[in-house]
Amino acid sequence: MAKEDLLDLDGQFALVTGAGQGAGRGIALALAKHGAGGVAVNDFVLERAEAVAGEIKALGVKAVAVQADVGDHQSVTRAFAEASSALGPITLLVNNAGNAGPDATMRHSPLFWETAPDEWDRYFRTNLHGVMNCCHVALPVMVEQKRGRIVTVVSDSGRVGEARLAAYAAAKAGAAGFVRSIAKEGGRYGITCNAISLSTLEPPMSPEQMEHFMASDRTKAQLSQYTIRRFGTPDDVAGMALFLCSDAASWITGQTYPVNGGYSFAV
Ligand SMILES: NC(=O)c1ccc[n+]([C@@H]2O[C@H](COP(=O)([O-])OP(=O)(O)OC[C@H]3O[C@@H](n4cnc5c(N)ncnc54)[C@H](O)[C@@H]3O)[C@@H](O)[C@H]2O)c1
Repeated sequence: MAKEDLLDLDGQFALVTGAGQGAGRGIALALAKHGAGGVAVNDFVLERAEAVAGEIKALGVKAVAVQADVGDHQSVTRAFAEASSALGPITLLVNNAGNAGPDATMRHSPLFWETAPDEWDRYFRTNLHGVMNCCHVALPVMVEQKRGRIVTVVSDSGRVGEARLAAYAAAKAGAAGFVRSIAKEGGRYGITCNAISLSTLEPPMSPEQMEHFMASDRTKAQLSQYTIRRFGTPDDVAGMALFLCSDAASWITGQTYPVNGGYSFAV
């Protein structure tokens, strides 16, 4: 018999990476509000993860903060062990940690040929190797449980290209390609693997800063490229992540879904 609420997560345990703020925090809260039995909140910055785990516990859902740099396989292994001993087997994984890595802010860099080769690695370490490390540790458990959902947050820079973000775009495109292959490996075990491709999210700012930012000519020019004339919010990302984690998406795998206000279209 079909379930009454297709978005209900059935008490499964989730781990969301980079969930101490931004889209990851929104995703972790959405999973908690839709029937996850518990959420492991990963972040490189432990205090951020602890704050979000506290918000989830306040909803009456189990949560644990697990510090790890997703780019470090040993630290990922430790974080999954902590998460599963506090909660149970992790069958929902959202690879959200990304951008320029744990200790660098995202900004448009010089043109690719003006960058130094040693600047590229931080993008690959978090956005590609981080995803591979988490999947490598999570998949054997999902195979054993014969169920699993892996959702990976990528970027439209990797789908349609973005000047001055070439290394980041390459890492995100790599992650989307990786997702397609593990989707093929995991299907027979009831595991789906998909990617969500974002364009720009609203930057975290005070209301005064936001007013100033939205009034600038640069922001207006950027927004004119969006069919829906606003930047994304964590809830926009969380809605798609929840859908892809749920039974509603059980026949969807290996896909990359743009969530981007119509910045680009998928065909
Ligand atoms: N913000 C945007 O405009 C935008 C656009 C396209 C894609 N994305 C992607 O969406 C995802 C979320 O972006 P956001 O802007 O909400 O993030 P954010 O930068 O606001 O927060 C990311 C969190 O992840 C943590 N983190 C970073 N590297 C980590 C690592 N190696 N290990 C563990 N934790 C780590 C940080 O400490 C931080 O708390 C990222 O994958 C990003 O690349 C964002």
